[in-house]
Amino acid sequence: MKCDVLTIFPDIFDSYLNESIIKRARANNLLDVTLFNIRDFSSDPHRTVDDSPFGGGAGMVFKPEPIFRAMDFLREDGEPRRVILLTPQGRPFSQSIAEDYSKEQKRFVFICGRYEGIDERVKTLADEEISIGDYVLTGGELAALVIIDAVTRLIPGALGDERSVEDESFSWGLLDYPHYTRPREFRGLSVPQVLVSGDHKEIDNWRRKEALKKTVKVRPDLIAKVKLTELDRRILSEIQALSDEEA
Ligand code: ADE
Repeated sequence: MKCDVLTIFPDIFDSYLNESIIKRARANNLLDVTLFNIRDFSSDPHRTVDDSPFGGGAGMVFKPEPIFRAMDFLREDGEPRRVILLTPQGRPFSQSIAEDYSKEQKRFVFICGRYEGIDERVKTLADEEISIGDYVLTGGELAALVIIDAVTRLIPGALGDERSVEDESFSWGLLDYPHYTRPREFRGLSVPQVLVSGDHKEIDNWRRKEALKKTVKVRPDLIAKVKLTELDRRILSEIQALSDEEA
């Protein structure tokens, strides 16, 4: 993934991009992030990037000029780019969007809004407007980092062990099953017997069942979107029967 980030707080990105998997992905040229301070593209001596809203109201609005100038600068190299504007009004980010982005050959531009909003004309620069959830952050910087993180771990070679991503396709669309490591007994809590049985078919069945159970309980809305196998349907009716008994 190659991306340019337009922000008025480039320092926010420093620590996150310099740790762990993201740091290694950058070192291995799997991820390339270039940060641009929108203030550098302001045409006035005070490096102003915001102004009061037409029509009145509280707060300040991001001016269009510095962002347009920044985009003109980026486009000088002629490289095709996919421009993403981060706002709470955007299309909700999801794992399937992360997968789509991880296959993108074009360079991304993430425009991080701030203040009360962004001049509507900035939207003409963007291919897509994306939100990371139904809550309002103080700016788009965390949203850009969330997207960069979710996409990077899908790039082949970015995770130490490719099975981590394969495993997710096993439980695609469901919440994850429970994980355990040593010790087998810890403060009276033991690891489920099946996980130490060595029977991989049984382990797979158990994991699928636990993922289904957790999803039904916490995110029943997701079940409708999952491609269920015959075995899944059987497991789901068992879960339903159990919860009917408890009721
Ligand atoms: N900027 C502020 N809140 C946001 C959100 N939820 N998603 C993306 N960008 C944002």
